[in-house]
Amino acid sequence: MSRVLIIDDNYDMLSMLTMILERQGKHEVIACSNGQEGLDAAFKAPPDVALVDVMMPGMSGYDVVKRLRADPRTERIGVIILTARGQAVDREAALAAGADDHMTKPANVEELLKRIDALLNRDKVKAANVMTLPVLSVKGGVGVTTLVINLANVLQQIAPTVLLDLAPTIGQCAFGLGMRPEKHWGHYLENRNTPVASLVQKHPTGLQALFAPPLPGQYGWPNVDAVTAIFTQLAAAARFIVVDMPPLLDPTAQAVLSQAQRILLVSGDDALAIQVTRATLQALQEWKERLLVIRNAVAPGPRPPAEAIQKALRVPLAADIAYDPAQVAVAAKGLPLAAVQPKTPLVLGVKRIAQLLLAR
Ligand SMILES: Nc1ncnc2c1ncn2[C@@H]1O[C@H](COP(=O)(O)OP(=O)(O)OP(=O)(O)O)[C@@H](O)[C@H]1O
Ligand SMILES: [Mg+2]
Repeated sequence: MSRVLIIDDNYDMLSMLTMILERQGKHEVIACSNGQEGLDAAFKAPPDVALVDVMMPGMSGYDVVKRLRADPRTERIGVIILTARGQAVDREAALAAGADDHMTKPANVEELLKRIDALLNRDKVKAANVMTLPVLSVKGGVGVTTLVINLANVLQQIAPTVLLDLAPTIGQCAFGLGMRPEKHWGHYLENRNTPVASLVQKHPTGLQALFAPPLPGQYGWPNVDAVTAIFTQLAAAARFIVVDMPPLLDPTAQAVLSQAQRILLVSGDDALAIQVTRATLQALQEWKERLLVIRNAVAPGPRPPAEAIQKALRVPLAADIAYDPAQVAVAAKGLPLAAVQPKTPLVLGVKRIAQLLLAR
């Protein structure tokens, strides 16, 4: 049984939600009609998920969520803000207050139950002791896929690792590993009863990979619910999940980032790349403790010193990877460089990242 706390000053709403959840037979419901009562109940016995209304007399739902997040007993619980206010700014306000999700009233019951399950599954992924490691650049073309392939290869030497290709650009990970994406997450979107494990392909090095569909747009894009289910299923088979992220921060990408232990943000060093990285750092502010910023060079030639980049970005570089001619030689062969040349600049940089990940 999971514990679900509902805080809403509208009595009808409160009893309806309680009934819907209890009818499922897998939730124990604690119903509270104001913010203070809800907080008292939450601190006394932390729920797994809280559904919080916004406009209530006394304390607003936003304040309730902030107080839940500020207390070590409840900082990690799943929180959904349920409100009559459905504008984009309202969603932003809910997320800014610390909610995991936001839904507009009247809520579609099926959708609400799904989102509660998604939050509960997220906790299962955490409990499974899996390290989710998204690698991201909003600009693109800075070596994300290359780092994902090599990091996954290095981590696989330590413990079972899955590479998940969530980049929308036609199967670059499969290409980089010299494999054909015959099975991919598109098949799961097509039929949600397909076990995700049956779509995972194995590389000769032992690395497991869940590839992206080979044709863009053919299967659509996983929503929060689908991507959460994919992670929950992958977590059963791996200690590390290294993710080639799309160059965007939509709700799906945010769902991945929200459950990640570390987020690897990759930057180039031309003026535009720096600007994009700075903007991304700002957008990822809420997860700044988890961020590792990496500079990578995809072209030869002189480049600014690391100090200048750190100053421009106002964060230290976790790794600074030079242009590696050996990468160019293996790129078309479908081999991770780390599997063939253990001591070139790219591989040494990736090993340093792996050490940082394991040290913390
Ligand atoms: N350190 C490096 N040294 C030399 N070449 C590199 C290095 N890192 C990446 N490359 C090369 O740069 C090119 C772009 O890299 P990659 O495809 O990994 O970037 P990406 O960020 O995933 O791009 P996209 O946004 O298109 O997905 C590739 O040809 C790759 O082999
Ligand atoms: Mg890529």
